Amino acid sequence: MADEPLVLGIETSCDETGVGVVRGTTLLADAIASSVDEHARFGGVVPEVASRAHLEAMVPTIERALKEAGVSPRDLDGIAVTAGPGLAGALLVGVSAAKAYAYALGKPLYGVNHLASHICVDQLEHGALPEPTMALLVSGGHSSLLLSTDITSDVRPMGATIDDAAGEAFDKIARVLNLGFPGGPVIDRYAREGDPKAIAFPRGLTGPRDPVYDFSFSGLKTSVARWIEAKRAAGEEVPVRDVAASFQEAVVDVLTRKAVRACKDEGVDHLMIGGGVAANTRLRALAQERCEAAGIRLRVPRPKLCTDNGAMVAALGAEMVARGRAASDWDLSADSSLPVTDPHVPGRPHDHDHVHAHESGKDNLYS
Ligand code: KG4
Ligand code: ZN
Repeated sequence: MADEPLVLGIETSCDETGVGVVRGTTLLADAIASSVDEHARFGGVVPEVASRAHLEAMVPTIERALKEAGVSPRDLDGIAVTAGPGLAGALLVGVSAAKAYAYALGKPLYGVNHLASHICVDQLEHGALPEPTMALLVSGGHSSLLLSTDITSDVRPMGATIDDAAGEAFDKIARVLNLGFPGGPVIDRYAREGDPKAIAFPRGLTGPRDPVYDFSFSGLKTSVARWIEAKRAAGEEVPVRDVAASFQEAVVDVLTRKAVRACKDEGVDHLMIGGGVAANTRLRALAQERCEAAGIRLRVPRPKLCTDNGAMVAALGAEMVARGRAASDWDLSADSSLPVTDPHVPGRPHDHDHVHAHESGKDNLYS
């Protein structure tokens, strides 16, 4: 529908420079530039390298997204940007770019939460998000279980990892197995040819006295690393496929078990899974199986929308506009630890006239 909000979204919280354009819940463009290759030799993301790469990629990626969407920047109803959480320097590049474009175009600016965006992106694939929805977000930087009753204003943390993120565990085990970085996709591939029951690796925080919705992957990581070391010390060949499959099974078993348990306890019958690890084929299959058994509807966006991208930021920005949420102030800053309980960073009430003056488009540089 033409009257649905047209929003451009900018994402720079980690190593992808993402710029997306959406109209309501329809995806128009999803342009991405990744610096992942520049980090590969370090085995993880180097913040300063990421910031510089964002700076170089920013303007070309914005232009590519607008072109792909076939829209004029003048037609936008708002510009959304990840305000946090993420790497401070990397976030700052996106926030500065969003402010510059919003100010020059006379458009309202929406600083939004990266985690809430990971949830909201599913609207682009499966339509309006049911309320409430339980969300399992698993990536290299985060592993959390969140309950969303209104993605623009009410997202409640149920549980989170107490040590490593799920994706981080994949990356570390891949490194021990000499499979390269990022580890998730390659472990996923090897695991398909391995036996998930070959080695009984521990399931973190699943004891009777453990926190019900929190995760821990550091014990599992150590256990897998010790098992591999022992094989090597004994001069035996490491069965890479079986290790990958058994490790992966330990991770996805706990993730899906806890997510389904949270849905049942809260009486929520929709579960969405997002973040880079949601691309994992075994996680998708086991979640589907367990959700079906529990009468829960599972929503997992296609892999490209699960990893960091600009479309997810645009999706949440469009929802902010549609629901009449307050725009951010021009002094919006990047907040590396923005809590998920803040789906966006609204401006102070006294500043709204200022934002609205710009919205009218009277004093903008592009008209
Ligand atoms: O969401 P994302 O692109 O960036 C972060 O915010 O971290 O997630 C990247 C993470 C990496 O740790 C990567 O190893 C993991 O997602 N990943 C996977 C798969 N594809 C990516 N983990 C398991 N299986 C996969 N197929
Ligand atoms: Zn992310």
